[in-house]
Amino acid sequence: MEANSEYPEYIARFYDVIYAHLRTVDHEYFLRTILSTRGPVLEIGVGTGRFFIDALHGGADIYGVDLSETMLQQLRKKLGQEHHHRISQQDARSLHLDKKFDLIIAPFRMFSHLIETDDQLQMLNSVFDHLNPGGRFIFDLYVPDLGILLNGINEQVDFEGEYAPGKKLKRIVSAKPDLIRQISSVTMTLTWDDEAGERTESWLLPMRFFFRYELEHLVHRSKLTLKHIYGDYEEHELGPESKDFIVVCER
Ligand SMILES: C[S@@+](CC[C@H](N)C(=O)[O-])C[C@H]1O[C@@H](n2cnc3c(N)ncnc32)[C@H](O)[C@@H]1O
Repeated sequence: MEANSEYPEYIARFYDVIYAHLRTVDHEYFLRTILSTRGPVLEIGVGTGRFFIDALHGGADIYGVDLSETMLQQLRKKLGQEHHHRISQQDARSLHLDKKFDLIIAPFRMFSHLIETDDQLQMLNSVFDHLNPGGRFIFDLYVPDLGILLNGINEQVDFEGEYAPGKKLKRIVSAKPDLIRQISSVTMTLTWDDEAGERTESWLLPMRFFFRYELEHLVHRSKLTLKHIYGDYEEHELGPESKDFIVVCER
């Protein structure tokens, strides 16, 4: 099995069902931040549109890019034809949009997909080039968990339910951390009912994890200005209980 950060079709297909249960903590924060921005907003790694759809319905002038065509296909299905121009397949490291933004966001650990420092810096500088003066860039990452760094995750069932009436879906996650390369090799195994019976597929993806001062140095090396790193989606200060880094930068 080869490590691959292109989202496979079955991951994109079941993304919304799974994360409607597993990921709600960030929704209000990003939606409020988008809707309180006056000018255009860009979401990098827009995926299936977990924020994008609500933001658009709320009246935001929002655009989205993603590297993964499988994820964008799911999003396009939810969008009227008149909004298709708002999303495009692009790499965060080399954005090409013909407008600038007052807010750019990269929610739900999109930045962890960038393994090498050069790639991370390229993205930060590409974001800078697409921000209006005073515009903000906000991204989030998980605070490394020392228990997981030591022991990894061994076949944990993190979703078990139905994706349609009577159709079962289960996800099992494992992770093997490499402390020196700061990569967690995550395996997601999905088992679901389809027409031919039960089907199982596994996806191995590398996820880069970051420490607090590394993030500070990284942003300082880029063209962006670091404003703050919060410890949760209510903008509390970082502390021993923090689970997420919310990194706020400015042009
Ligand atoms: C965890 S998903 C988050 C999707 C959505 N923002 C959300 O919160 O549900 C991360 C997304 O980042 C995209 N992505 C990964 N690397 C990327 C890159 N280099 N450029 C643009 N998008 C990328 C993936 O394809 C995926 O859709």
